Amino acid sequence: MRSLEDRVALVTGAARGIGRATALALADAGAAVVVTDVGRQVAGLTYGTATGEDLAATVALIEEQGGRAAPALVDVRDHDALLAAVDLAERSFGGLDVVVANAGVASWPATTWQATPEQWQTMIDVVLTGTWNTCRAAIPAMLRTGRGGSIVMVGSTAAVKPVPTIGHYAAAKNGVIGLMKSLALEVAGDSIRVNVVHPGGTGTEMTQNPAAEHWQATAPGVGGALELPMPIHRMEPLDVAAAIRWLCSPEARYVTGTQLVLDAGATLR
Ligand SMILES: NC(=O)c1ccc[n+]([C@@H]2O[C@H](COP(=O)([O-])OP(=O)(O)OC[C@H]3O[C@@H](n4cnc5c(N)ncnc54)[C@H](O)[C@@H]3O)[C@@H](O)[C@H]2O)c1
Repeated sequence: MRSLEDRVALVTGAARGIGRATALALADAGAAVVVTDVGRQVAGLTYGTATGEDLAATVALIEEQGGRAAPALVDVRDHDALLAAVDLAERSFGGLDVVVANAGVASWPATTWQATPEQWQTMIDVVLTGTWNTCRAAIPAMLRTGRGGSIVMVGSTAAVKPVPTIGHYAAAKNGVIGLMKSLALEVAGDSIRVNVVHPGGTGTEMTQNPAAEHWQATAPGVGGALELPMPIHRMEPLDVAAAIRWLCSPEARYVTGTQLVLDAGATLR
């Protein structure tokens, strides 16, 4: 269903994983999409962040399915770069209606209290401040466009149910929840909706790299916390993208201020 025909979207962290699947889903629904990603290694991580080639591949995939996309290399810690991406959306596609604040990072200290100050700060800067930066760059353009719209922030089930050793990640993602609730109230009068999706374990580079796999296998209590009650090991990015696409569609026109958990039942236990 082309529920986003003539609409314009911006997705952060769109070079791969959940962000790429989301960009493809929004384009499939008819939106023109500005796809952004950092395009270089984020310092201090033990796995690779996406490259400019990965981002170009997202554009190629969207174009292959008949959609429209424009890429921008943006570190979400850089508000000016986000403003430039928003400007690209307005110049190339005539406005901005949909924003998905998806960019994120992971790190796996032995315990939360033993995380290094760099691990803590990078997490807060990318996940929490990056989401705020994305919104403060995008909302003025959404208001100028004047058609209402939808902002979806990507949270995590780690913000809903504690997972040992990654309290810095949970703290940043819980900050995103608080940010979402205030923004949802602030822009409701302009028919802009703001929601959070909380994916459970999803098969992406963030979870499928040696450091993440070592953590899952060896950190006390982690394996059980990530276990899914449904008969799957991990969800796929397209499972998350489908929910985001719905939240961005007119079918969800009165859904705002909510948190949608996508976890095959993991947080029930
Ligand atoms: N995979 C999971 O199990 C899972 C579960 C819950 C939540 N999430 C969240 O989903 C989102 C997407 O993660 P993913 O699983 O697709 O992992 P991923 O590592 O494949 O994708 C994250 C993307 O964000 C980009 N990025 C990192 N730092 C950035 C920065 N400073 N500026 C701009 N882009 C940056 C990366 O380059 C990458 O393309 C993240 O917010 C993550 O926390 C993932």
